[in-house]
Amino acid sequence: MIPARRFLLSPFVGVTVIVVLVALYFRSSLKSPLHPNQRLFSAEELALYNGTDETLPILLGILGSVFDVTKGKSHYGSGGGYNHFAGRDASRAFVSGNFTGDGLTDSLQGLSSSEVKSIVDWRGFYSRTYIPVGKLVGRYYDSQGNPTKHLKGAEAKASRGAQLMEKQKTEEAKQPSCDSRWSQDEGGEVWCDVGVPRLVQRPLEIAITGSMSKRCACFKEDELDQSGLEVYKDCEPLAKTCRV
Ligand SMILES: *[C@@H]1O[C@H](CO)[C@@H](O)[C@H](O)[C@H]1NC(C)=O
Ligand SMILES: *[C@@H]1O[C@H](CO)[C@@H](O)[C@H](O)[C@H]1NC(C)=O
Repeated sequence: MIPARRFLLSPFVGVTVIVVLVALYFRSSLKSPLHPNQRLFSAEELALYNGTDETLPILLGILGSVFDVTKGKSHYGSGGGYNHFAGRDASRAFVSGNFTGDGLTDSLQGLSSSEVKSIVDWRGFYSRTYIPVGKLVGRYYDSQGNPTKHLKGAEAKASRGAQLMEKQKTEEAKQPSCDSRWSQDEGGEVWCDVGVPRLVQRPLEIAITGSMSKRCACFKEDELDQSGLEVYKDCEPLAKTCRV
């Protein structure tokens, strides 16, 4: 009896061990935030892939995501117009256009929600166009490859920006914009086919871009008594066209 029981027991133990190993394997692969063909980079490692060494791929970081942009060599390689972006995360420069010194930083401090949205959109462009190869350990990913509070904060700010822009669009659609044209010789002109031109504050603009701005909208005569409507300088109150 005993040998027979041992015979039954050993495959059972073997199967159990295999099941446990498989479970551990899947648990660890589920836990790892990185895709199997991606890896972690330090800033120093990433700097090697700046396009100087022709035998190495060219890599670019944005919001801590690292992409292989070698197929865009004419832009990102040595002497290319976007070479500043190679071998580093210069997220801020995507909106500041400042490629000198500290302008080449991944800090988004003080940027408006529309600017942060634009950087998140750029990351989307790289995801669609180039091959993701890993994450840069630092501001946006920790040493395990998990998103940091800075990344979550930037993404939240970008989606707030997107919501505000959508809301502004809906609001402004209620009051049609003026037509406009500008030429070197004749200067600028705004006009309305229906109603008359007025300058109005864009109420959400300060939340979106961080600065005040006005737009030209068309108001019918019976809508002109509301507050906040500014007549163009040197324009008759009921003129359909104003020089600007
Ligand atoms: C650019 O990459 C090369 C090697 O690929 C490296 O020697 C050089 O230090 C890098 N430049 C910077 C500014 O990191
Ligand atoms: C670029 O950024 C650096 C560092 O913040 C600053 O000193 C410089 O004035 C900026 N240049 C431009 C053109 O904004």
